[in-house]
Amino acid sequence: MKQFISVNDVENIDQLLEKALEIKADPFGQQAVGKNKTIGLIFFNPSLRTRLSSIKAAYNLGANAWVLNAGADSWTLEMGDGTVMNGDTQEHIKEAIQVMSAYCDVLGVRTFPKLEQKEEDYSEAMFNKVKDLSSVPVVSLESATLHPLQSFADLITIAEKINYNPANPPKEKVKVVMTWAPHPRRLPQAVPNSFAEWFTKVDWVDFTIAQPKGYELDAKFTHGANIVYDQEEALKGADFVYAKNWSSYEDYGAIIPQEKDWQVTIDKMKLTNDGKFMHCLPVRRNVVVADEVLDSSYSIVIEEATNRIYSAQTVFHEILKGLK
Ligand code: CP
Repeated sequence: MKQFISVNDVENIDQLLEKALEIKADPFGQQAVGKNKTIGLIFFNPSLRTRLSSIKAAYNLGANAWVLNAGADSWTLEMGDGTVMNGDTQEHIKEAIQVMSAYCDVLGVRTFPKLEQKEEDYSEAMFNKVKDLSSVPVVSLESATLHPLQSFADLITIAEKINYNPANPPKEKVKVVMTWAPHPRRLPQAVPNSFAEWFTKVDWVDFTIAQPKGYELDAKFTHGANIVYDQEEALKGADFVYAKNWSSYEDYGAIIPQEKDWQVTIDKMKLTNDGKFMHCLPVRRNVVVADEVLDSSYSIVIEEATNRIYSAQTVFHEILKGLK
């Protein structure tokens, strides 16, 4: 693997999943790959899981890790080309990324969208600027439009729950419903875009998106996925319920008021096939999902967050093994 920015960097999803399950079964068994290697992690936005799971993943592989919270831990960075830097910014991204990539063998990068200009966010202008300046392979720690380490962890979690056996994949499709849920703030589409992009490629999954009208995601990520506008109808018989809020893609960044409450409740979970509740976290309790669900055996959010370690570790392993 040369980089990890989307599912398109994965040659074979089933093989990557098999590798992740193997790594999870023996997390310290691959330390030769990370010996004398350093993973750099640069965050332009906050994180709990991605930051800590990536550090743990590097440690499991016998590699070092450093983290930089850009702007907070460092000089204030200038992003613009040709700027006369006589204002508040102290260091240009051009030097900063070249220097940071000299200090590591793989560079993880998190850059959120501004949710102002669709074209700017969807061209991944900021992420690509960093990628182009880096002299080492780049891993997305979430970009403006995608969060592939999260989606891979979600796949590992679902695979574990169904006792997935690569030699004998499920004969009946597993019903996975990604449902839009309410949130008081405008959120990016990165997690749902990525989830759709991954799960439309898994042939043992029957994938549905439940959402209100006006929240259609970019079709280049949903690949003709089944979209249902009635949440309760969509949840019937689901094996996995993946809740997430996102702002409108069409009316870019907008929140469209809803008459019905899309919060995931225990009564809605009862419509499922004893389905499991998933969320990438952080989650707003009693807004996105009721306490009763999160605190019940329906919820597998902690297992899902734990698998962020093995998703990152597998990706770092696949990149590091190709380096000299
Ligand atoms: N799910 C996720 O990426 O969590 P953080 O934003 O805390 O890293």
